[in-house]
Amino acid sequence: MIREWAANPRSYRPGEFLDARVTIGDRIVSVHLAPVFMGEEFVGTVSVFRDITAEVEAERSRVEFISMVSHELRTPITPILGYADLLLMGAAGEQTPVERDFLTAIKRNADRLTLLVSDLLDLSRIESGRLEFSLQETHVDEIVGNVLAGFQATARERRLLLRSEAEASLPPVMADPNRVVQILSNLVANACQYTLPGGEVVVCARVEGGEMHITVRDTGIGIPPEIQGKVFDRFFRADHPLVQSVPGTGLGLAIVKSLVEMHRGRVWVESEPGTGSTFTFTLPILPVDQMALRQRGPRAGRKRLEARAQTVPPTHPKPAAPARMGQESR
Ligand SMILES: Nc1ncnc2c1ncn2[C@@H]1O[C@H](COP(=O)(O)OP(=O)(O)OP(=O)(O)O)[C@@H](O)[C@H]1O
Ligand SMILES: [Mg+2]
Repeated sequence: MIREWAANPRSYRPGEFLDARVTIGDRIVSVHLAPVFMGEEFVGTVSVFRDITAEVEAERSRVEFISMVSHELRTPITPILGYADLLLMGAAGEQTPVERDFLTAIKRNADRLTLLVSDLLDLSRIESGRLEFSLQETHVDEIVGNVLAGFQATARERRLLLRSEAEASLPPVMADPNRVVQILSNLVANACQYTLPGGEVVVCARVEGGEMHITVRDTGIGIPPEIQGKVFDRFFRADHPLVQSVPGTGLGLAIVKSLVEMHRGRVWVESEPGTGSTFTFTLPILPVDQMALRQRGPRAGRKRLEARAQTVPPTHPKPAAPARMGQESR
């Protein structure tokens, strides 16, 4: 970049600077360089060097701490759930209705804790760059069908109409199918949770601008414009009474955003309070040469085109807002 500025001063765009992180011995240094020009002549740079070793180490300790705590929490939850199930099945004799209520509350909250711990583990893996995923030829229409089938019981319970508008014969995308299921499940779960009975949740998938666009649209409570930018932050939950009445930690959309970006996709929301919300994420479509390869064989016998374990570079998330965890849900 510096050579480019020196050789071709006109290539410089106002506000441009070089931002790098270098390791010098056991210190980590952040470097900011901005060019100085006299007329059209490059005369040098203004350079700011900052020792950020302590910040980097604090961040590393934070990530390691979350990872360790999540692992440690997982171990005792398993027997709590197991024994609650056994008692509910009557393994230790019949319970009174009150005892059954108490046991059901223990089980429901232990289930909730399991989900929270698995979200925390996912986040810590994402932040430390240890989340592995394998990209392969993935059929979005199949995933939409499976995820919707899994949520039909929830939708019926909440008196919601849940349906797909996925286009026919969609091209395959390059993605980790398990992670796409995780992304879509989080969005559909939110849409079902934050829509009042009698509403509708629709999942669409279509090709637009050379990418796959997958949309989850609901007729729910919506999100006010001033907080639409915050819903992807960790631990953010709206103040709406319906949101506060449902147990949740505000990690779902933060994970969705990281997972989508790992696929080089984008995710955004359009919403109007009282009318509904539409969450859209994009995924890259399989390159044309690989599509040709696919067309030679039947779909049933399709091969993994690229099954590599990919380690994702660490993201640099903002410090977490105060956690609003542990809404008891008796
Ligand atoms: N479809 C939606 N309609 C209205 N509000 C939504 C919708 N999806 C998300 N939100 C808002 O964004 C917030 C963050 O969503 P997110 O999925 O990250 O967390 P959560 O659902 O509260 O908890 P969990 O971590 O268990 O998913 C929600 O609490 C809610 O306020
Ligand atoms: Mg959620």
